[in-house]
Amino acid sequence: MQWTLLAATLVAQHAAAQSMLRFACSQLVVERTDPLVDPGKKYTEHLHQIVGGNAFNVTMDPAQDPAQLSTCTSCSFQEDMSNYWTAVMFFKHKNGNYIRVPQVGNGGPQGKLVNKGGLDLYYIPQGKVTAFKKGFRMIAGSPNNKDTTRNKGNICNRCWTSSNENQFVGGAPCTGSDSMDVPADPKCKMIRQTVIFPHCWDGKNLDSADHASHVSYGGSRGASGGGACPASHPVRLPQIMYELMWNVTEFADKSIWPTDGSKPFQYSTHQDGASAHGDYIFGWKGDSLQKAMDAKCNLDRDCPKGGIHYQRPDKYSACTKPQQAPEQVDGWLKRMPAGAPAVKA
Ligand SMILES: *[C@@H]1O[C@H](CO)[C@@H](O)[C@H](O)[C@H]1NC(C)=O
Ligand SMILES: *[C@@H]1O[C@H](CO)[C@@H](O)[C@H](O)[C@H]1NC(C)=O
Repeated sequence: MQWTLLAATLVAQHAAAQSMLRFACSQLVVERTDPLVDPGKKYTEHLHQIVGGNAFNVTMDPAQDPAQLSTCTSCSFQEDMSNYWTAVMFFKHKNGNYIRVPQVGNGGPQGKLVNKGGLDLYYIPQGKVTAFKKGFRMIAGSPNNKDTTRNKGNICNRCWTSSNENQFVGGAPCTGSDSMDVPADPKCKMIRQTVIFPHCWDGKNLDSADHASHVSYGGSRGASGGGACPASHPVRLPQIMYELMWNVTEFADKSIWPTDGSKPFQYSTHQDGASAHGDYIFGWKGDSLQKAMDAKCNLDRDCPKGGIHYQRPDKYSACTKPQQAPEQVDGWLKRMPAGAPAVKA
């Protein structure tokens, strides 16, 4: 009963977004490179988890097409060689050591998505949308942001009190008690992170110096498609949403939490939850995304009228890449990766 009610509420809240494309992406690699913000630099200041096409590289020249260079993708659709990445979450033990929090797939009204690490992707169209062009890239949020109200409604964390990722908790993304701060409550079995990107484009620039000012949020917050676009950024893009499930269950014992006032769950940015952000480099083949949006493809399966092809989880999960900035990222670490390569505790 409760599930039916929640599902009905969710569907109602997503009325504008019923044709959203929702699919799983497994881990391509976990490393510090960031070809958008720090091209050419191997050990940037924070660790990322990256999914998508295997042409992901330390430097990604916008003139080169990831759809041509990639030989596989860790996402469900064969045509999607885009790269998507975020900071990762760490648990801090009271002894001062850190460990990366495991990521799991998610459920939801359209059924469970299967991924090995990684994240769930949404492309939410509102009416007729214009797909991204080759070379397009952008960032949502900022690793330097400290203002917990700035991205309210678009970037948030939810305390997922159910140990079953298929049993829905809460309302629409970034509503209710969802917060930019990372919850620190032993009742949370998982922490669901949402990153919603701007969906209004200036129609001219594929990127900008801050990787953000060529795009803008629209008239509404949340996963509704984004609302009306301002005159400065009149072109309506599909609204991209990342959804990550950080499984904090194994860290529920409060007696191992820090006693020095620091938070048990922290993003790899070395700042609070307000620093959460997402990076995107477009890499769909040809006009496949435009066709899929026009045809209202909406599930993680073949969509013949939109011409996109689903691949099975064992196939996309097998698309991985060795670290280009090699360092220890699993198990207990003496400190969070930054500066020189990290060392095992
Ligand atoms: C990554 O970049 C290096 C150096 O620019 C280049 O030699 C290599 O071919 C690139 N790899 C891929 C998969 O694009
Ligand atoms: C979350 O972590 C717990 C504890 O390690 C584990 O038992 C559980 O299976 C994990 N959940 C998922 C969905 O992987």
